[in-house]
Amino acid sequence: VKNIFLENLKDHIMNYNNELASTIKALAIKGKGLLAADESTSTIGKRFASINVENTLENRNAYRTLLAHTKGLNKHISGVILYKESFEQNIASIFTANGIVPGIKVDDGLSIMPETLNESFTKGLDDLNNKLETYKKLGAKFAKWRNVYTVSSETPSESIIRSGADNLARYALTCQAYGIVPIVEPEILIDGSHDINLCAKISSQVLNSVFIALFHYKVQLEYIILKPSMITAGIDYNTPSSAKEVAARTLKILRDVVPVGVPLITFLSGGQTPLQSSDNLRAMNVNASNPWILSFSYGRALQEDCLKAWSGKKENVLKAQDVLLECARINGLASLGQ
Ligand code: 13P
Repeated sequence: VKNIFLENLKDHIMNYNNELASTIKALAIKGKGLLAADESTSTIGKRFASINVENTLENRNAYRTLLAHTKGLNKHISGVILYKESFEQNIASIFTANGIVPGIKVDDGLSIMPETLNESFTKGLDDLNNKLETYKKLGAKFAKWRNVYTVSSETPSESIIRSGADNLARYALTCQAYGIVPIVEPEILIDGSHDINLCAKISSQVLNSVFIALFHYKVQLEYIILKPSMITAGIDYNTPSSAKEVAARTLKILRDVVPVGVPLITFLSGGQTPLQSSDNLRAMNVNASNPWILSFSYGRALQEDCLKAWSGKKENVLKAQDVLLECARINGLASLGQ
């Protein structure tokens, strides 16, 4: 007897696998990376404050529209991570029309975990299904969830590592059930004066715990994107880590921990300068035979100079778009080891 229910379920999963596979195919392209433009209203307020621009809906729309209309951006950028407002204001569709796949930040930011040394956990699982349903209808093909981990001799705590891994895995599994590719982002914060060894030790623990959780939840690794931080000394350490050192330490941990089934790894810039971010990415791709595509998903490192060039003025739009395009081109080359 044919089991109609099981047949339908199988079709349903197959359809979603096709959808997930085609999104991965569109995003994981050698020489291209992602643009992280998913600043929440308060975060974009900080960026605007640095160029003396008021944080109004009109200014946010003007800036995000500038990004979306940048001609030729799709030569170097395959996907863009957006904040919900960009979907609601129809900016996501401009990116789509420009050949760039839109994705949605679905976490709801950070909250302090009680009984820790001011460590933060990420909110947003409760209404995740609703968010995925809503933004999928508005064109989102992938999603992002970011956890943060503070580096010090006493942090991250066991509770933050365990609950963070669990939440990322639950998020990733739920995304895949909607045919949405999850970006899994465990960010080891650069803040602090720690050396590169401590960053390496903690990154290895965190990544290990994340992949164990992904395995336990049966997340399909070939349909995720990993967005890690690079292994570096803290921003207040006396000497910045060299690109060679960052590349060697980061590659070592990724090779130890990340299964080859993961198709794409896109780093965050996390407070490194644009130059450091590109140089470190280049060093990781020089003479390297990595099993995954190693590329970028930068926010600040791609937008910093573009924001300055724009400075909130209509007459600067073309100049700002040229700057963004050039930053994207440079990082595209860096992802090829050039
Ligand atoms: P940065 O590259 O500025 O760290 O931003 C990337 C991002 O999406 C952080 O979640």
